[in-house]
Amino acid sequence: MPESASVTDFHHAFTNGHGSAARTTLLMLHGTGGDEHDLVPLARALLPGAAILAPRGRVLENGMSRFFRRLREGVFDEEDLRVRTAELADWVRAALAAYDLDPDGLVAVGFSNGANIAASLHLLEPRLLPASVLIRAMVPLQPSTPPELHGVATFLAGGRLDPMIPAVETERLATMLASYGADVTTHWEPGGHGLAAGDVAAAQSWLSRRAPRG
Ligand code: MLT
Repeated sequence: MPESASVTDFHHAFTNGHGSAARTTLLMLHGTGGDEHDLVPLARALLPGAAILAPRGRVLENGMSRFFRRLREGVFDEEDLRVRTAELADWVRAALAAYDLDPDGLVAVGFSNGANIAASLHLLEPRLLPASVLIRAMVPLQPSTPPELHGVATFLAGGRLDPMIPAVETERLATMLASYGADVTTHWEPGGHGLAAGDVAAAQSWLSRRAPRG
């Protein structure tokens, strides 16, 4: 981690874990226009008692927070995405140290833009995230070096009628992550881009089967 990375580099919310899920930290990554508070209720619903670490994206698009720039919907500024991915990875490492959290218990949970940067973390910083829940994600970029993702578990939830992230794009991401060795589970909702009760229930059950117990 660069000397300069500090837990104060991102506005964020943090809640300590407690009980049997205390060793898990859910890294909550919001969608376009969200903030660090947005997904805290989702984290509580997904795995009660897990620690919650939720940064706010540092890029502004017409006043809306995001984790990286895009040229237009679904077309990303790849150079910015690479820089922002490294910056977020450095911050996560700083936060794990500052809050004394177990790196092996880290699970990224991203929605939309947050899911896309989590996918980018898998591809560019393959040792950072042992697990992730990616809701409405697509292939964010083509890595120049194939990442080693054996031992990584990821749950991808797509919407069959999502106009923003077409189902075929989520399928491409699932195939890509699996080709690098990740253990990929997919879940499909019949609807569109919005988070559905079915996404939450399926992610809950996936997490409860794999969360480390402390
Ligand atoms: C992105 O920019 O990451 C995707 O288009 C989804 C979103 O707008 O959040």
